[in-house]
Amino acid sequence: MDFSQKFPLVAKGKPSQIALLNAIKNEVLDRSMPLKIYTNVYRNRKINDSDEEKILAWVNPLIDTIEEFEERFKETEINLDTLVHKILDQKCFRCHANGNDKGGFENMQDTKALLKSRHVNLTNPSESEIYKLSLEKKMPPNRRDALSDEELLTLNEWLEVQARETPPNP
Ligand code: HEC
Repeated sequence: MDFSQKFPLVAKGKPSQIALLNAIKNEVLDRSMPLKIYTNVYRNRKINDSDEEKILAWVNPLIDTIEEFEERFKETEINLDTLVHKILDQKCFRCHANGNDKGGFENMQDTKALLKSRHVNLTNPSESEIYKLSLEKKMPPNRRDALSDEELLTLNEWLEVQARETPPNP
């Protein structure tokens, strides 16, 4: 771990911030750092109660903030899935799901299959056909049914989240 870097913390193997913060907290609580071979020589470098208090006062709020953020992110993600499903349901499924196979989707409702299809580009989410054609108002074919700006943003955001969460092909 490189302590010369302030936040975000940097360490070999790029563990998550929360993992690093929890590791620091645990080392301090069980006094496993600095190593004994070091503190046996430099006794005044041992972590004492006052050090512990200071380090915890730094680490604990950060852990709380990250956990809170991740909790909220999880919620918006659930909302995103629901929102996108609703948009596609209203604007696309009529022709691309439930036995209607226009454009070779098989079934747009099957999200996993949709994400793997050529209509989605997880390397470059906003290049995805389902997004681009919607943006260019080519899909749905009737312009009156075109996606609103907000619906387009939602679709794009969803694709970006999917891209972030899908590990790249080996
Ligand atoms: C009224 C029917 C209808 C609706 C609604 C509709 N589409 Fe289509 N879509 C088609 C047809 C027909 C084709 C095949 C036409 C073609 O190949 O040019 C197609 C093809 C596509 C393709 C594939 C294009 C290609 O070149 O392979 C994509 C991607 C697509 N639609 C996305 C969408 C999305 C996203 C929505 C909703 C926002 C949507 N469509 C709504 C009828 C529809």
